[in-house]
Amino acid sequence: SNSNLTIDERLLKICELLENHIEYYNWVGFYFKNGNKEELKLGPYVGAPTDHTIIPFGKGICGQVAVSNENFVVPDVTAQDNYIACSITVKAEIVIPIFVNGENIGQIDIDSNTPDPFTEADERFLEFVCEKVSEIL
Ligand code: SME
Repeated sequence: SNSNLTIDERLLKICELLENHIEYYNWVGFYFKNGNKEELKLGPYVGAPTDHTIIPFGKGICGQVAVSNENFVVPDVTAQDNYIACSITVKAEIVIPIFVNGENIGQIDIDSNTPDPFTEADERFLEFVCEKVSEIL
């Protein structure tokens, strides 16, 4: 049973499941609004460690989603000028916001080492995951 797990332990399990089961999901993590600051803070993740544990709103793909409240699918990270590189192996990225009571409180961020791997099916699936996550926070 998962019932004795903390929220962060549950979120880490979600990251592990996604990274283990979908071959083009190579870094999977959560960022959350950092208190009342206009910045994101890295939560549970799997994949290469990143220096970008704090991301100001507006900066990078993640920071843009914090202000747009929209999914952001990046088929080719080299084509983005407002992008924060975490690893040179990354070719593509998808970020889906997490809403609690209509408020954008964080996001799931997935990097892929495969070029242009993400479809609308990934968006619908990850929106579902984010809805489930919003219910356990
Ligand atoms: N690439 C992201 C930064 C987070 S790393 O992917 C883990 C961005 O541009 O916001």
